[in-house]
Amino acid sequence: MNLPQNIILIGFMACGKSAIGHKIAEILGWEYVDIDMLIESQTKKKVKDIFLEEGEKAFRTYESEIAKTIVNLNNKVISTGGGIVLKPENVEALKKAGKLVLFQVEPETVLRRVKDYTTRPLLNYPDPEKRLAMINKLLAERENKYKNSADIVIDTNDDHLDNNARKVLKEFE
Ligand code: S3P
Repeated sequence: MNLPQNIILIGFMACGKSAIGHKIAEILGWEYVDIDMLIESQTKKKVKDIFLEEGEKAFRTYESEIAKTIVNLNNKVISTGGGIVLKPENVEALKKAGKLVLFQVEPETVLRRVKDYTTRPLLNYPDPEKRLAMINKLLAERENKYKNSADIVIDTNDDHLDNNARKVLKEFE
């Protein structure tokens, strides 16, 4: 296998970064790291509370600070927040640390998977129609940024974790 320094997962909320990422880490015997969780342990706050109390801009600053430190990691599967691609400096920092794998999903897949929408501040709409409209809007805004940042693109609309993990690893054979 021709594995990179780290495998870095990018893509929209609920595209499978966490579930598939854990699976890839398990197969490789690598550690799984989640940038949102690093932010939460550093700030001692939940992401949703950072959005609520400090606003999105503050969250994006924490996110960029952590992104810069990722280059120091080795042999990790690293999950990023769906908005990491919004700042070119984040993508630049991540590119120095490994290969970026984009998980691509349809808006309907996101809606189907986002059951606890209250933990995702950007999708916190009780009305599913409003939630879908927001998913469509954000996906449209971000689509090109995801594609332009990715080294590898994997379709993860299918919920089968093992298959999706193996699809990723096949890229490094
Ligand atoms: C965000 C995605 C979330 C989290 C934050 C913002 C986004 O992460 O970073 O709520 O802007 O898409 P997940 O992609 O893990 O849900």
